Formats: sequence, C-alpha cells, structure tokens
Amino acid sequence: MPGLNEIKQPISAELDAFEKKFKASMHSSVPLLDRITHYIVKRKGKQIRPMFVFFSASLCGGITEATHRGAALVELLHTATLVHDDVVDNSYERRGFFSVNALWKNKIAVLVGDYLLSKGLLLSINNGDFDLLKIVSQAVEQMSEGELLQIEKARHLDIDEKVYYEVIRQKTASLIASCCSCGAASAGADAETIERMRLFGENIGLAFQIKDDLFDFGTDDIGKPLGIDIKEKKMTLPLIYALSKAGGSEKRHIINLVKNHNEKPDKISEVIGFVRNSGGLDYACAQMLRYQDQAFEILKTFPDHSSRTGLEQLVRFTTERKK
Ligand code: IPE
Ligand code: IPE
Ligand code: MG
Ligand code: MG
Repeated sequence: MPGLNEIKQPISAELDAFEKKFKASMHSSVPLLDRITHYIVKRKGKQIRPMFVFFSASLCGGITEATHRGAALVELLHTATLVHDDVVDNSYERRGFFSVNALWKNKIAVLVGDYLLSKGLLLSINNGDFDLLKIVSQAVEQMSEGELLQIEKARHLDIDEKVYYEVIRQKTASLIASCCSCGAASAGADAETIERMRLFGENIGLAFQIKDDLFDFGTDDIGKPLGIDIKEKKMTLPLIYALSKAGGSEKRHIINLVKNHNEKPDKISEVIGFVRNSGGLDYACAQMLRYQDQAFEILKTFPDHSSRTGLEQLVRFTTERKK
C-alpha cells in the first residue's frame, strides 16, 4: 500500500497552499491564544480530511479557490472538535504530545476550541461560501449530537451495535462525509453527484472510526492514550460484540469492571483480554471492511480518473493505517 506521502503527491501543491491558509486563519493578536494555536499547528495530524476535499473536488470538476477554503474550514473544525474531545474524554495526549487541556487546563481548551470554530465560520462567511458552510455546519451539529449520545450511553452502559453505528455516523462519519460533498460542491458538481460523494465519505468515516476504536485495544504507539475508551466507559464495537456472545455471569462481571473498576489498569487489561479472546477485534475488523467495500462500490460509479485512484488509496489507507 502506498504511504500517505505518496498518496499526497498529485495534490502536493494544493496541500502546501492549504497549510499556509490554515496557519494564517488561526492567527490572533492575543498572546496566549497565539501561543496555543502555534503549539497546535506545529503538531499537525494526518490531514486526511483536506485530502478528501481536494481529491473529491478534482474528481467532480476541478479544484477551485472555494475548494481551498473548504479544506481549511474542515480542518479548522476538526481541530476544534479534537481540542474539545480531549476535554470530554479527560485525555492528556494528542498527536504524540500533551493535549491542550493537559498543558493549559479545561477552561482554556474550551475557549480555544470555540475560537477555532469561529475562525472556520468567518472564513466561509467572509468569502460567501454559504453552500459549503451549510454542509459543514450540519456535520458539526451531528458531531455534537453524536458525542452527547455517546455520553448518555456510557452512563447507562446499554449501547448496542445499532446505536454504536449511529454514534460513529454522527460523531465521525458526518465530518468526513462533508469533506467529500464539500469538495464536490466547490467544484460546481450537481446535487446528485454531491449526494453520492457524501455517501461515499460517510462509509469511509464509519470505517475510519471503527479503525480508531480498534486502536484502543492494541499496544502500538498511536500518539494518544490506549485503553482510554474503556476508562471513559465508552463501549465500542469490539466490546459490544464480545458482550453479545458472553453468558450471563461473564457479561455481568465484565460490565461491573467497566462500571466500577475502570480506573484500574489491570482491570482494563482484563476487559481487553476478554474482548480479544471473544473474537471482538476480528468482528469489528470485518465490519470495517464491509464499510470499506461499500465505499469502493460508490467510487466505481465515478468515471476513471487519477483522483479516483487517489480516493481509492485514501480509503485503503483508512483501514490499513498504523495511527
Ligand atoms: C481523530 O481523527 C478523531 C477521530 C475521528 C477518531 P484523526 O485520526 O484524523 O486525527 P489527526 O488529525 O490525524 O490527528
Ligand atoms: C472521535 O472519537 C471524536 C471526535 C469526533 C472528535 P474519539 O474520542 O475516539 O477520538 P480520539 O480517539 O480521541 O481521537
Ligand atoms: Mg477522544
Ligand atoms: Mg478514539
């Protein structure tokens, strides 16, 4: 499989320009804010979302100035939600470094997240990108709903597979879907094409979050904490499946560990061992590949094009990545 740098090649000029715009769009004259946004841009992530925007635009008519703003908008909002997510999840590591809340505390992280959100909104409004802003705002609405639904389910520990898909569709797939539909819209595509790209992105987004949830059960360094989902009582697909296959007493025992002993590393390890031995990881992996296949099927409805190949490679990267 080609690595991310190789996949980026055909759009490298666009990504370079994107990065400048992204950095500039965060600027603030408040010294504390400027220090924090500097800290954030220095530790950039994979930037997979802007890549989806550019490849989608290129496939659906061609990259425009609006495509560039769409890419910056999406990455700004993604960054804002990560800053907030680490507050929500009590997580102190992001992209291999301390999270914003770890260094500056929750109060400041909440305000920085809001600031980044406002910067994204202004970037669109100041340029009249109302169609893109509408697409992305709907995704942000869903992300908040998804995170809240997840919290509600963590409180009652009663999430089933169907609700799990609903949570990840809202909290993760909606934004990746919006990358693909925004890309298409910025290229002047028609409504049917924009919707087809949205559906393509939604399927990748579902696969993307299942992969992320699988990482939590692993031992590899992914630049963020491991086992934190169980610690936060977030029951994800591997655990949901394993519990559905367990007998009554084992099920009660594991749920008790998640509910009452979730701060103890040895108990978290016990839950992870249970999930591994019950085939929970294999099952989740199979479901991830099912969504990947659906994404490929949708992609096949588009004409053969170098950017279609780029998207194909990005889909494969999503399910095979190491972090
Ligand atoms: C992390 O997204 C949040 C999830 C939806 C799981 P990424 O894995 O794309 O984060 P970065 O931007 O590369 O750090
Ligand atoms: C994705 O869920 C969160 C967002 C949609 C922002 P996670 O909580 O699993 O993401 P990570 O693992 O912290 O990146
Ligand atoms: Mg998190
Ligand atoms: Mg995660």
